[in-house]
Amino acid sequence: MMTPLAQPLILDVLEGRRTERPPVWFMRQAGRYLPEYRKLRAEAPDFIAFCLNPQMAAEATLQPMRRFGFDAAIVFADILLIPQALGQDVWFETGEGPRLGVMPSVGHMREQTEFAGDRLHQVGQTLSKVRAELEPERALIGFAGAPWTVATYMLDGEHRAIGKGERAQARTYAYAEPKKVDEVLEVLVEASARYLKMQADSGAQVLKIFESWAEGLPDDLFERLVLRPHQALVRRVRELGVTVPLIGFPRGSAALAERYAAEVDVQAVALDTACPLEVGKRVQEIKPIQGSLDPLLLRAGGDLLDRRVDQLLEAWGQGPWIFNLGHGILPDVPIAHVEQVLKRIGAQ
Ligand code: CP3
Repeated sequence: MMTPLAQPLILDVLEGRRTERPPVWFMRQAGRYLPEYRKLRAEAPDFIAFCLNPQMAAEATLQPMRRFGFDAAIVFADILLIPQALGQDVWFETGEGPRLGVMPSVGHMREQTEFAGDRLHQVGQTLSKVRAELEPERALIGFAGAPWTVATYMLDGEHRAIGKGERAQARTYAYAEPKKVDEVLEVLVEASARYLKMQADSGAQVLKIFESWAEGLPDDLFERLVLRPHQALVRRVRELGVTVPLIGFPRGSAALAERYAAEVDVQAVALDTACPLEVGKRVQEIKPIQGSLDPLLLRAGGDLLDRRVDQLLEAWGQGPWIFNLGHGILPDVPIAHVEQVLKRIGAQ
């Protein structure tokens, strides 16, 4: 029998195959918990300039790969580059997170969508640089924010203080100004599709769609703001000729995660920290899953960390499964805890 060509483990999983151990990478694996990241970050004038400097962004992408040998690298960039490419000001206040200026008119943004990929060509250069340096057995992941999540930042604008955690302002708009919100989502579907296409053309072997704010939506809104735009985005990405696998991450979708898996044509679903093991098993019957260690347990470490990794291995280890966190790694996580997890899984 012919041995199949060696390819990154994560691609085996995304093609639905079971693997001897789960491939592993961590959301936000490049970041402030790494001293080498903090040093590099200090050399950039601001966070957006850092993301759009291919030399620096490629270095940030590769730092966790060199240190830990994760099975996949995720390009160093941010979901808020898209509003910027559509003409809305974006900046980051230290300690406060992202800030956005007034959203341009829908008409103006619609005219910009076809240029979204070209305007962010630096991210493409980062991807090419990283691909050239990465070993063939490691995969390179590109990404974009999902339309609703990006829209929550764009619509919130100066209202960010109100109900921050639940994106209350944006959700209120979704009810009060449905036409406008749906148009913004349409603009974001087209712009994100172009951006993802550019990333695939530049060397991304997997594309991930971050819906970080699927949380707290009643089912009718979930359908309108999450399911339909994701379906449209996947369709558009495929129409543009992209063939690489897609991972959808409907963070906080709770009981709706299974519907997402069944109704959105992504190749895998990333589960968040609060997703019960049982639900994960059911989603795994529909398609490959990714997730979902608690970032706070990673910070705490100790025996409980080992025990939870074992539980995840026990529940989902027969695959297809990509080991990851349920949300991004926190800036104060000890490096030794990351190594502890990798050893436990047998990836180091
Ligand atoms: O390593 C990786 O995962 C790749 C890089 C990456 C970043 N942001 C770098 C970043 C990815 C995939 C993102 C996605 C992202 N950005 C999301 C979706 C995932 C999620 O966490 O839910 C969201 C909502 C954003 C928007 C964003 N960017 C916020 C809210 C913040 C501020 C919060 C914070 O941690 O300070 C950022 C800034 C940001 N993006 C940082 C990094 C490493 C920290 C800023 C810095 O280093 O100065």
